[in-house]
Amino acid sequence: MTAPGWIEIMRIVEVGPRDGLQNETAPVPTAAKIAFVDALSDSGIEEIEVSAFVSPRWIPQLDDAENVFRGIERNPSVIYSALVPNERGVERAISAGVNKIAIFTGASETFNKKNINTSIDGSFRRFQPVVQKAAAVDLPVRGYVSAAFWCAFEGKIPPPATIDVIEKLLDIGVNEVSISDTIGKATPDDVQSLIDRLLPKIPANRIAMHFHDTYGRGVDNVLASLPYGIRIFDASAGGLGGCPYAPGATGNVATEDVVQALKDAGESVSVDLQKLSGARRLLDTYVVDDRRRQPEAGSLACESCEFVREEGCCQ
Ligand code: HMG
Ligand code: MG
Repeated sequence: MTAPGWIEIMRIVEVGPRDGLQNETAPVPTAAKIAFVDALSDSGIEEIEVSAFVSPRWIPQLDDAENVFRGIERNPSVIYSALVPNERGVERAISAGVNKIAIFTGASETFNKKNINTSIDGSFRRFQPVVQKAAAVDLPVRGYVSAAFWCAFEGKIPPPATIDVIEKLLDIGVNEVSISDTIGKATPDDVQSLIDRLLPKIPANRIAMHFHDTYGRGVDNVLASLPYGIRIFDASAGGLGGCPYAPGATGNVATEDVVQALKDAGESVSVDLQKLSGARRLLDTYVVDDRRRQPEAGSLACESCEFVREEGCCQ
């Protein structure tokens, strides 16, 4: 539980522009990503994970990270962050003017190999120069632990294995750890069992929870984390998302659902739900259930699509 005297301010981290759009099969034009982030900035969201400075060979969907950062209008009360896997990534992120970076590893060796092509130990060797470069410019660092409960390849991950990775992340200097249910298989019991073991060692205000919603348990898992004093929750507008290297993973828990559930639970959340769903609707033309539809000919999205103009019209 939290120590007395802490100010517990709820923080929703909107990961749709990164976790959501990294998994889209149809191209989403840079202009649409920028419009999405700008609309999110106006919705009262405190932190937005805008993109990822990863290898474009691995995640081509986010190969325009620099241009997205260049194009967005910065709201001074919003933190604009990005995912970074290595030293090259942090250099790109700093040049793009991010407010925060997120490094990422997992509690499963197999997932790490598939996602970042190295072992757990290998990921920490890569992180050393990353956190040093971030510290040199006072950039806050988040650390993700994927497969914190279940792995698509290794099955159930024992809590001590996850806690070991969380402790290593804190030891190298991350400010907060985002505990991630990558394939959305955790139950509230799994969540409570991990947090029960974790909290004697780590304060609740350094923990974020990142739930995918494959089995519809995302909101239940958020609510299961609340009594422990955890106040940072990742979510994506409209439930966009998934990890291309975690087969079966679907989107993050929807930000709209999390905000509503927190409000229903009596928590103060400063997100305007109408503006939030308006932001998500900006992507309707590109991100659809069958994931194949293209912008309608002559629609606003079609007319403002830079990708289409540069690469040849899809219509
Ligand atoms: P690698 O192939 O082992 O490394 O990838 P490499 O150093 O040989 O690089 C391969 C190519 O990428 C080279 O280019 C590098 O220059 C380039 P080439 O010579 O072949 O033309 N490269 C880069 N380019 C731009 N920016 C960089 C960069 N680094 C290398 N930063 C690597 C290792 C880590 C780079 C790769 O595996 C990678 O980028 N993986 C990212 C995978 C990813 O983004 N997955 C999804 C995000 S994680 C997630 O969704 C989970 C999360 O949501 C929490 C949860 O739900 O669990 C966070
Ligand atoms: Mg994720």
